[in-house]
Amino acid sequence: MSFTSSCPEIIVSLDQNVLVLKFNRPDKKNALTGAMYRSLVEMLDQATPDPQVRAVIITGSKACFTAGNDIQDFLTGGAMNADHPTIRFLFTIAEFPKPMLAAVSGPAVGIGTTMLLHCDLVYADPDTVFQLPFTNLGLCPEAGSSYLLPRLAGYPRAAELLLLGNPFDAGQALAAGIINGVAENPLPVALDQARRIAGQPPAAVRLTKKLLRAGIASNVNRTMAAELEHFGKRLQSAEAREAFTAFLEKRAPDFSGFE
Ligand code: COA
Repeated sequence: MSFTSSCPEIIVSLDQNVLVLKFNRPDKKNALTGAMYRSLVEMLDQATPDPQVRAVIITGSKACFTAGNDIQDFLTGGAMNADHPTIRFLFTIAEFPKPMLAAVSGPAVGIGTTMLLHCDLVYADPDTVFQLPFTNLGLCPEAGSSYLLPRLAGYPRAAELLLLGNPFDAGQALAAGIINGVAENPLPVALDQARRIAGQPPAAVRLTKKLLRAGIASNVNRTMAAELEHFGKRLQSAEAREAFTAFLEKRAPDFSGFE
């Protein structure tokens, strides 16, 4: 079966049993829209039973991984519930049964960082700029990051990254346990690792991933559901509206009037 994306902003290729999903919206820093999430979910749903796919790589361009969820979509994209394309994407990657890798360069903001917590192997360019600006935007953590990040990075580091929302570099991401390695050219590194995995006995690989995730799966699921309930409400909050409008109007947000 061939893989064809319904959305031109997601480029798909399958080579040597490795499916590569590439964000392609350069004019908007690969900010992710509903159509892009829907296409990613379609491709991953198709990859799950397809024996041709033994590993998946998510990547962007050299200039940018992704600036996160499209902020205009946050304002106009409708209620964020379990059927929302962003949420369907997050649950799909959290439950994806085959190895998932990421090759990251440039900005990796919001979901651009939290999706990495669901990948099995992540390689990042030294120039990568990670950021979790949820509080900065009047939001709260998503993608299970309020559970996964303290578990990977330790509480103090997770609190700093999530409360301050400051950008951090590949060295800090490595120290925080978010990525596996730093490489000038992360895509060939990820491809090489994915091809090695694709050469392993596939049932043993799937079982190993399942066992690795078994201990955390129910907590991740529960946390994602709890975060979603709050995140949906925060999107409608005056704090978030001010942050989104300020971004689109290219000005600094003013939170001085909020209690
Ligand atoms: N949603 C919608 N549009 C976005 C976007 C996003 N998340 N991120 C960038 N863009 C758009 C900008 O509005 C701009 O559009 P324009 O050319 O029509 O004005 C274009 O992409 C280029 O972005 P710009 O900010 O000029 O690029 P930069 O190189 O100066 O900065 C970032 C790159 C990623 C640091 C910056 O764009 C940014 O902070 N984006 C928002 C990230 C964010 O908060 N995401 C949500 C996380 S929950």
